[in-house]
Amino acid sequence: MRLRSRKNAGESLEKNDLVVLEPGRYRGRWRELFGNDNPIRVEIGMGKGQFISRMSASNPGINYLGMDMFDELLRKGSAKAKQIWLEKGSDTVPNLFLVRGNAERLEEMFAPGELDRIYLNFSDPWPKSKHAKRRLTHSRFLEKYKEALNERGEIHFKTDSLSLFEFSLNSFSDSLLQMRNISLDLHRNGLRDDLVMTEYETKFVERGQPIYRLEAVIGSEAIARHRSEVEGKMRSAAAREEARQQAAAEAGEQDALSSAENAE
Ligand SMILES: C[S@@+](CC[C@H](N)C(=O)[O-])C[C@H]1O[C@@H](n2cnc3c(N)ncnc32)[C@H](O)[C@@H]1O
Repeated sequence: MRLRSRKNAGESLEKNDLVVLEPGRYRGRWRELFGNDNPIRVEIGMGKGQFISRMSASNPGINYLGMDMFDELLRKGSAKAKQIWLEKGSDTVPNLFLVRGNAERLEEMFAPGELDRIYLNFSDPWPKSKHAKRRLTHSRFLEKYKEALNERGEIHFKTDSLSLFEFSLNSFSDSLLQMRNISLDLHRNGLRDDLVMTEYETKFVERGQPIYRLEAVIGSEAIARHRSEVEGKMRSAAAREEARQQAAAEAGEQDALSSAENAE
């Protein structure tokens, strides 16, 4: 990500109450920091923070963490979050912290099962195969995510890069992860207003590029819920088909009766 503006460059992050510079200090204690037991969801590579700020403002019953490696992005993200919450009429941001961290060291930041969901939005594609291990959907990262996620755990991934998406489908599959809601053109039928857009997504959609997206269900509860939803859909489809066949049979009987009556 290119960082051009240096407008807030002098602002001290140490004094910023939204920013956590040493996330390892809260390993196993994030709930204490938030002051409640709500689920915790993290965006790894939040960039300028639009997505995670909007998510926090739309879902006050969920705790959010936006993670990135660069101080300048933490400054921008913090300004964005404060602005979005101010527009909502609040001069505090109750359910979001911005974390300076590298996914490489995820296990030093989160105890096993501490997270509910991980968002990977427009992660760097690292197109050269010699850099494949740096892709945030490489199996070595998926293992870290599995460890940090709890029984409701899910990963939501979107990208504009077809090659990263192909790589990721294989990587999720090789890690035996159950995938769902796979889309090869997320906004095909108009913008999905149920899903919050990121800065990169807005740019790519304006250029008419397709967005690829998938969700992976990791935790046992998430898998069980997904299975029961799929079974429910299959039962409804079977019931609809049975009703259709019965209606067709009844119509056939009616036609046969009418023909017989006409013949008399
Ligand atoms: C292409 S930008 C996408 C930003 C934002 N998610 C969006 O969709 O607009 C990728 C971001 O991921 C961050 N990033 C890359 N590797 C990372 C890592 N290992 N840990 C944390 N953040 C990382 C980069 O600093 C950059 O801000």
